[in-house]
Amino acid sequence: MDLDQRAAVVTGASRGIGRAIAIELARCGADVVLADWSDEADAADTRAGVAAEGRRAVFVQGSVAEPADAARMVHAAVEHFGRLDILVNNAGINRDAVVWKMTDEQWDEVLAVSLKGQFNTIRAAAPIFRQQGSGRIVNIASINGLRGKFGQANYAAAKAGIIGLTKSVARELGASGVTCNAVAPGLIETEMTRQLPADVRQKALNDIVLGRIGTPEDVAAVVAFLCSDKARHITGEVIKVDGGQDI
Ligand code: NAI
Repeated sequence: MDLDQRAAVVTGASRGIGRAIAIELARCGADVVLADWSDEADAADTRAGVAAEGRRAVFVQGSVAEPADAARMVHAAVEHFGRLDILVNNAGINRDAVVWKMTDEQWDEVLAVSLKGQFNTIRAAAPIFRQQGSGRIVNIASINGLRGKFGQANYAAAKAGIIGLTKSVARELGASGVTCNAVAPGLIETEMTRQLPADVRQKALNDIVLGRIGTPEDVAAVVAFLCSDKARHITGEVIKVDGGQDI
């Protein structure tokens, strides 16, 4: 996948799937803005991974849920690398509870970060992409946005919302040469899922046709493909990376 001379923004890049995406894009030749609400020190491994590929990394601290922070993340690519080619909306959180016990805060926080956060960065990036007549947007959804999940009404609603957002943005920006796709992972080994009770993990594993829990790199490979010229005729799609967990 040749992404030489491209400039990318990856949100939630300090760890997990976002870290793997940032490093994979760098391996393909892109310079990367690492955007995260964590401290810069938490992004050290991602930064080192990008540097090891010989590419530049710039860290921007902020929350995607804040429109001004999201705009800073996007504009950092233009400021530091002189352009913006790729936006990967990966930042997301979960605050699990069954719906009859879910608080307003749990609902609002997940929707604000995981759904509105993606809108915030896309809105900031759209004028740049439209002006240059090209761009790639990849939004990280989840199979739980397609099938629903016990205890995750807020998260599943946000992830389903991402799919509607993705298809709408694909329609709005297609004439400007911009593609917008979603990747929907199944269970992936990260800090978000490491604390899951053993029985929940085992149940998910039983559903995964390929018999293994996915890695962040499994997701990153598909994201890099969607960002490449090879995927130039794919837009508005949702691609599952779940080992057959949700066939
Ligand atoms: P993680 O919790 O390991 O990492 C998420 C990163 O996003 C962290 O670095 C965190 O600081 C950052 N972040 C959180 N809120 C933020 C905010 N408001 N602004 C900026 N950065 C923020 O999560 P993981 O597992 O790497 O997940 C990444 C994405 O993949 C999320 O959107 C998640 O919903 C999605 N996903 C994960 C799956 C899994 O099994 N791990 C399955 C399906 C989807």
